[in-house]
Amino acid sequence: MATHKLLMLPGDGIGPEVMGQVETIVSWFGKQGLASFEIEKGLVGGSAYDAHKQAISEGDMKLAQQADAVLFGAVGGPKWADVPYQHRPEAGLLRLRKDLGLFANLRPAICYPALASASSLKPEVVEGLDILIVRELTGGVYFGEPKEIVTLEDGSKRGVDTQLYTTPEIDRICRVAFELARTRRNKVSSAEKHKQTVTALHAKDYADVELEHVLADNCAMQLVRWPKQYDVIVTDNLFGDILSDVAAMLTGSLGMLPSASLGAEDPATGKRKALYEPVHGSAPDIAGKGLANPIAMIGSFAMALRYSFGAIEAADRLEGAIADVLGSGTRTKDIAAPGANAVSTSEMGQAIVKALEARG
Ligand code: IPM
Ligand code: MG
Repeated sequence: MATHKLLMLPGDGIGPEVMGQVETIVSWFGKQGLASFEIEKGLVGGSAYDAHKQAISEGDMKLAQQADAVLFGAVGGPKWADVPYQHRPEAGLLRLRKDLGLFANLRPAICYPALASASSLKPEVVEGLDILIVRELTGGVYFGEPKEIVTLEDGSKRGVDTQLYTTPEIDRICRVAFELARTRRNKVSSAEKHKQTVTALHAKDYADVELEHVLADNCAMQLVRWPKQYDVIVTDNLFGDILSDVAAMLTGSLGMLPSASLGAEDPATGKRKALYEPVHGSAPDIAGKGLANPIAMIGSFAMALRYSFGAIEAADRLEGAIADVLGSGTRTKDIAAPGANAVSTSEMGQAIVKALEARG
């Protein structure tokens, strides 16, 4: 049985609580002999800043480079509002993405039947929804240079961010989207402002996949109007940040959305660098209270099973267990009907372990 090296970076806020539930699940899979994991832990975000005065230490970056997969919780909080910009909590996440070359961010938005009524949209709009946002993650305005704030002669300041993409950057993210579409409903919607490069790649290598172009602002509107028209949405870093938050709410709660960030395949080993993280943030207002929904974090581990470890059956089983638990009516506060009973973070984790066992 192969041993997989996992690096856990719980981070700040609710990160450690939701990661705690993944630990339980990882050790359950270990005990079943279904897979074996070697786990390291590190610090990222504000907690890393408190310990090392930077958002991730060199030592933890090295562990991330060596890991088969990184599991990331969440970063940030009011405590670090005044730390220098280059050491702000988010810088740790951005450095991981950039240094590991994690250019492809997969953000599935699936509406579990049991949760259709938890969405702020009408149930018929979201019921059965299954879309995948493929967000470019290492380019665009997040990393474009120049990126600076300069003081002008009159004492006022000028901030500059740069939005730029090269054709190879566009090609490789679109290839990921087209390949994934072939395993799904075979349709790609490119949410952008320009379309030359995508159109050329499509004609050359992916003419069998349906391709449509949708302006990014229209896409945001269509997502709340009739999201089921989409299968795979491919988009840039900044639009993807926004569109994936919109898509998250279709599923009932930001607490439901897992994600995978993948690098290029290493031609020698066939492996990809990978980081898995919930789309939700650190939610400092509810941190430490046992209120957080661990499903996005646990679903992120399911994606690790699928995309990094080739453990498709284990991934199906874990995702099935999540659906079973939701089907049985178990809810954390974020997805519970107003006034209804809600379980704690660890009770939700335990319920998922039980459901995994029941699927035996
Ligand atoms: C996300 C987050 C990050 C982003 C932040 C924390 C830098 O919003 O992963 O969507 O903007 O990419
Ligand atoms: Mg975001």
